[in-house]
Amino acid sequence: MELEYRFEDICTTADAIRAHDRRRPEIAVVLGSGLGGFADTLEAATTIPYHELPHFPTPKVEGHAGRLVLGELKSHGGPPRTIVAMQGRVHRYEGWSSQAVVFPIRVMRMLGARVLLVTNAAGSLSAEVRPGELMLLTDQINMTGDNPLRGPSDPRLGPRFPDMSAPYDPTLNKVIEAVAETLGIPLRRGVYVGVSGPSYETAAEVRMLRLLGGDAVGMSTVPEVLAAVHGGFRVCGISCLTNLATGLSDKPLSHDEVEQTASAVRLEFTGLLREVLLHLPIPKP
Ligand code: HPA
Repeated sequence: MELEYRFEDICTTADAIRAHDRRRPEIAVVLGSGLGGFADTLEAATTIPYHELPHFPTPKVEGHAGRLVLGELKSHGGPPRTIVAMQGRVHRYEGWSSQAVVFPIRVMRMLGARVLLVTNAAGSLSAEVRPGELMLLTDQINMTGDNPLRGPSDPRLGPRFPDMSAPYDPTLNKVIEAVAETLGIPLRRGVYVGVSGPSYETAAEVRMLRLLGGDAVGMSTVPEVLAAVHGGFRVCGISCLTNLATGLSDKPLSHDEVEQTASAVRLEFTGLLREVLLHLPIPKP
């Protein structure tokens, strides 16, 4: 097995981004289905369509914007924060390999970002949740059947056997919970189960995932977080629980419902993201 993307490819893409904008981002953000609007609120922004970047995987689903946005968040007191945001991501169900899915994460790390905030739309494995509630990720379960770190190990990207005892950084999570509380935004906590999709789960699979310890299920995030921790990012994640998983309500699932719910919480979500990104501690290099 060969590495599909080499270290040099990551460097080439990072250089191409620097040719547009030399700012060094402190925080990288991945914006999930229906949650991409946040990137439009960044100031002094440089926007680059993924297809203009060498090697960058481009979403094949219509309507999923694929743009990298480098911009600033201005706070009232402190200095502005430089953010790199992915408006849209690629998924394994489109046919991309796990290595392709995590390529942008490695590029954003190469640009200098030290903290990664991932967001996604997910189904709730608990019937008590109302669609649109937000959940802070405390841990994850990889049910994709793959691992983006499989294959030859390049020590420049990270260790062969990375520790996963705390993939979602407890210090960052404390800050996020405090910010949510200040804003009066209810925030659940829970374990995200990553599956490969594209079919939604069966009711029997949902019962299984719940028994295994999951609180939410989705088709993204898990490979990205594995590669991010491997590459030395401090990681945190927030799910928008757009629907009850199969069997927990009598409605069949649809992607439209997922996107509509995500858009409905857009203002609350964007507000939370903004304050979180202004307050997250950035580790020293
Ligand atoms: N299952 C898997 N992925 C999802 C779901 C779901 O119920 N909702 C949003 N993404």
